Amino acid sequence: MGRVLISGCLVAIFVAYHSMNVVIPEGCAEPWKIRLMDTINKPIFFIIRDVIGVFDEQLSVRMLRSLMDGMGRMKMEEDSTLHIRDTHFDGVSVRVYVPISRRDGDLLPGVVYFHGGGWVLGSTESEDNIARELTKRLNAVVVSVDYRMAPEVTFPIPFEDSLRATKYFLTHTETFGVDPSRVAVAGNSAGGNMAATVSLKLRDEQFEPKLKRQVLIYPAVQFVDYQTPSCQQSEKAPVLKRHLKVYFLSMHLYGNRSLENVIGDNRHVTRDVRENIRVSYMDYSWLPNEFLELGPYQDKEIVEGDVDVWNSIKDAVMSPYMSPLFAKHLGDLPDAFVITCQYDMLRDEGYLYARRMKQFGTKVKYVNFKNSFHGVFNVFQFIKEGEQMVDDVIAYLQNEL
Ligand SMILES: *[C@@H]1O[C@H](CO)[C@@H](O)[C@H](O)[C@H]1NC(C)=O
Repeated sequence: MGRVLISGCLVAIFVAYHSMNVVIPEGCAEPWKIRLMDTINKPIFFIIRDVIGVFDEQLSVRMLRSLMDGMGRMKMEEDSTLHIRDTHFDGVSVRVYVPISRRDGDLLPGVVYFHGGGWVLGSTESEDNIARELTKRLNAVVVSVDYRMAPEVTFPIPFEDSLRATKYFLTHTETFGVDPSRVAVAGNSAGGNMAATVSLKLRDEQFEPKLKRQVLIYPAVQFVDYQTPSCQQSEKAPVLKRHLKVYFLSMHLYGNRSLENVIGDNRHVTRDVRENIRVSYMDYSWLPNEFLELGPYQDKEIVEGDVDVWNSIKDAVMSPYMSPLFAKHLGDLPDAFVITCQYDMLRDEGYLYARRMKQFGTKVKYVNFKNSFHGVFNVFQFIKEGEQMVDDVIAYLQNEL
């Protein structure tokens, strides 16, 4: 009994300590939920990734993935209005959701959906709830893509999987009763990157049929600058923290964690490249005042990069199919809906990507969620801003697809 009490006290102290460290978005409607979520996440992540992972990287990743899969299944009811099937599109694992209410002969719109998770975590299972919601409320056929990830594979494999599955769907719409002129791609975080880069590649190949719309929910669109104002302001925000962003990039490029120190110090890119990018693509003065006023950020001195590391990663990092922000031109793309969150390290790059697409004449609807943080889309059943975000995405696709 005594031991249980002591352990309980220790856990309580640990949790209380961590919960004080969480930076909660200012206008957030339900701060306690976020505090709880983040407090539970932190020690779990630490134990699995940084303790177990030292002994067995693969095992730690598998454990984290199962946890996320479990989250996707929470609050899920049996549903007889959908027909759900796991299959392969040109060798790529996908889960296909078809509303069964469809009358014979009706052609439905289609959505190719890419889950988030930094190219390490996440799956069709972890975002099953979102895919179902989209299918039901849009009355659309949704294809959720299980692209392969690190450490099993690295860039460009996840992108190529996503591209192959999308092409297959676009050329086999008849099989699914889908109108080929009404297909969109959508995704969040790493999945937003997939939606953006697949759109770009299909444009470059002049692939037919064309995608009609792209929905980019807090997408990652560049990997050069981890010192943007939003990166500095939100490094301790809920869910996506700096150490995770660094971990994901190291895994996506190398399939292991050996780049973390270099990326953490911003030395994965050489000084001249970084300066060039700053001037041509990422001038902070282009950001809206409401972003800059959120909190102090320093115009940090650009450090000398590690030339060997840069040489080993530059082809990937400068490829528009990894960093669409650096594409030579961003016109002739499907109309886009870009969402960012105020308290998200990815806010500024998402904004800059929307801005640059507009400059090239692509039609863009852009919304910054002022009281929100990275990851709310996934927890739309628990957090109000997430619910709003799902509503907005559905409204956009209802009108536009
Ligand atoms: C990490 O991956 C890189 C690139 O594949 C490789 O060169 C390096 O040896 C790996 N490091 C470790 C510690 O496995």
